[in-house]
Amino acid sequence: MLKGKKIVLGITGSIAAYKAVLLVRSLIKEGAEVKVIMTPAAKDFISPLTLSTLSKNPVLIDIFKEDTWANHVMLGRWADMMLVAPLSCNTLAKMAAGLCDNLLLSVYLSATCPVMLAPAMDEDMWKHPSTRQNLQTLASYGNSIVPVTNGELASGLFGEGRMAEPETIVEHLLQHFKNGGRLNGKKVLVTAGPTYEHIDPVRFIGNHSSGKMGVAIAREFLNRGADVTLVLGPAPGALPLDGLNVMRVQTAGEMYDACHQVFGETDIAIMAAAVADYSPVSVASEKIKKKEESWSVALKKTPDILKSLGQKKKENQVLAGFALETNNERENALAKLQQKNADIIVLNSLRDKDAGFGKDTNKVTIFDRKGREKNFDLKSKTAVAKDIVDYIIEYIHA
Ligand code: PMT
Repeated sequence: MLKGKKIVLGITGSIAAYKAVLLVRSLIKEGAEVKVIMTPAAKDFISPLTLSTLSKNPVLIDIFKEDTWANHVMLGRWADMMLVAPLSCNTLAKMAAGLCDNLLLSVYLSATCPVMLAPAMDEDMWKHPSTRQNLQTLASYGNSIVPVTNGELASGLFGEGRMAEPETIVEHLLQHFKNGGRLNGKKVLVTAGPTYEHIDPVRFIGNHSSGKMGVAIAREFLNRGADVTLVLGPAPGALPLDGLNVMRVQTAGEMYDACHQVFGETDIAIMAAAVADYSPVSVASEKIKKKEESWSVALKKTPDILKSLGQKKKENQVLAGFALETNNERENALAKLQQKNADIIVLNSLRDKDAGFGKDTNKVTIFDRKGREKNFDLKSKTAVAKDIVDYIIEYIHA
């Protein structure tokens, strides 16, 4: 049921707009409150009168009309979900570029609620590299994508690009609210990125982590209503951090302190950071000069954050770690599950092409303390984050 859920439904100019009639009817039947926004082009495909009658609300199209102004900020705040179905290739590209030349785009850009997108277009447009790139950009912002299906297209050709059927879209919404409801008010701690262990003011020991995997997990929890603290190491690129409580750290020691500061109040903790295992015994205050042919730096073990949280963990807390392996993957992941007293270990291997450090995709296998093991395909890190969050919710409720 979607009883009491507030949905802003955005409809764009696409032949699939006719399915929006059934979609609105199903949403209302499920108990949702629906406000429809159409792009000007959508009016050519479907009548606003039909949609306002079915949704029992005026259909919004213009930002200004006579002396009234559609408050786009309040619409995005009112909604529990903004759903755009069908999402045309044109609006998809504008969303990815952050353009804002109609009411639907203004609501999208100012929405504080989760966003779900159901694209619809011809196969060649769907497969064009710019569409792939735009879709990936939108997914990386935490928007959920309802996959297109195969079938007859408006062009008369058969192929990929048909918008999902209304019942499938409603199913995605039900799933979202079912899982989201379970996380409402939960406190989640996520670590992400590398740590830099300083040798002197200009040198450090670090690794290739970009922070993308951990941030995707943090965003997924946020989208589902959790209160998320992200402890983030010195990841070099720009990351979407809005809405997260971010604690920036540099070293493993600082990450350890930040995690222990919040762990007592945490319901679920996921350690996705690539923490340095060793740091220099001492940090030189001045730049070390180049003299000898060879040079060794004495190292000491850093604190094992995951293990220390595992020792502190209470019955009602769930602790998940990652294992980044290059060989004996399964064996090493299972050993980490035991040694660190984690509930869940997410294994990713550098032997898998397009998985691990820096990439936009990852391929994981999840192991848990109840003896279960699940393999996932190579997916975008956003999609992997969804799988991990779903897995954790199932683990809690199993
Ligand atoms: O950041 P990206 O570029 O997106 O890449 C993602 C990732 C590959 C970094 C991520 O998916 C990942 O695998 N993170 C864990 C990397 C790692 O340090 O793995 P590990 O097998 O060495 O460590 C096992 C676990 O112990 C991890 O949860 C790690 O956070 C934790 N650990 C490790 C050392 C330490 N001193 N303290 C820890 O808590």
